[in-house]
Amino acid sequence: MTTLAIYSNKGGVGKTATAVNLSYLASRTGAKTLICDLDPQSSATYYFRVKPKLKSGAKGFVKGGKQVNRSVKGTDYENLDLLPADFSLRNLDVTFDKLKRSKKRLRKILSPFKAEYDFVFLDCPVSISTLGENILNAVDTVLVPLIPTTLSVRTYGQLLSFCNKNNYDAGKIYTFFSMVDRRKKMHREIMATVSKAYSGVLPSFIPYLAEIEKMGIHRAPVGEFSPKSVASKSYQTLWDKFQETTHLSLTGK
Ligand SMILES: Nc1ncnc2c1ncn2[C@@H]1O[C@H](COP(=O)(O)OP(=O)(O)O)[C@@H](O)[C@H]1O
Ligand SMILES: [Mg+2]
Repeated sequence: MTTLAIYSNKGGVGKTATAVNLSYLASRTGAKTLICDLDPQSSATYYFRVKPKLKSGAKGFVKGGKQVNRSVKGTDYENLDLLPADFSLRNLDVTFDKLKRSKKRLRKILSPFKAEYDFVFLDCPVSISTLGENILNAVDTVLVPLIPTTLSVRTYGQLLSFCNKNNYDAGKIYTFFSMVDRRKKMHREIMATVSKAYSGVLPSFIPYLAEIEKMGIHRAPVGEFSPKSVASKSYQTLWDKFQETTHLSLTGK
């Protein structure tokens, strides 16, 4: 099993759009794939047309085992399952905090999925507290969507220095540019500077595209309702480049 978090300590950067489209693309190659929606807003759950219901809520979730397994639902797509989120996850940070080894719980919760899945994607809410640390401890790779603006780059820098200061392996963090408008000089300049300054910047980006916003209307990955679009091709290239760069094989590690 290979675990990937689509994570950022910033909101509205395209995490959920990325998690939904990449998990869909992974499953299309025949790899058994699970997407875990960890966000109480349950947007990934909504996109996959699943009821936002986590059996036994956040308390059951942190216990792991059968409680979590029973909540997993199939999606409309072969090889792709979803662990839905619901509103109880708004307290996930506090619930983790009350437990022993509270920063390594998520890793334990996910471990039973090892036998069953090739890929496990986490669609993460914004958090750099206990939940954020659980995510960093739980996954093999972190993928951060980065809008090429000054504030987003600053937030990304904060994440990397947090990892360095707290002994998290910053080497497993990758980023790509999200919501890119190549007509904007500032976007082009920031992309060039960041690509030089940081390692782990993928050589592929996702443009700002109306087709991606339409996922909310179709409630499906772009590859389903607009397979020939630039949006669909951009996610495919991103997934290919991500696998090449991180040396993930199509069937997981
Ligand atoms: N590349 C893109 N182009 C245009 N709109 C996008 C793109 N990526 C995401 N969006 C839209 O921006 C909003 C925030 O995206 P979302 O994936 O939910 O971000 P996050 O999960 O980081 O909060 C959503 O309405 C989504 O449809
Ligand atoms: Mg989201």
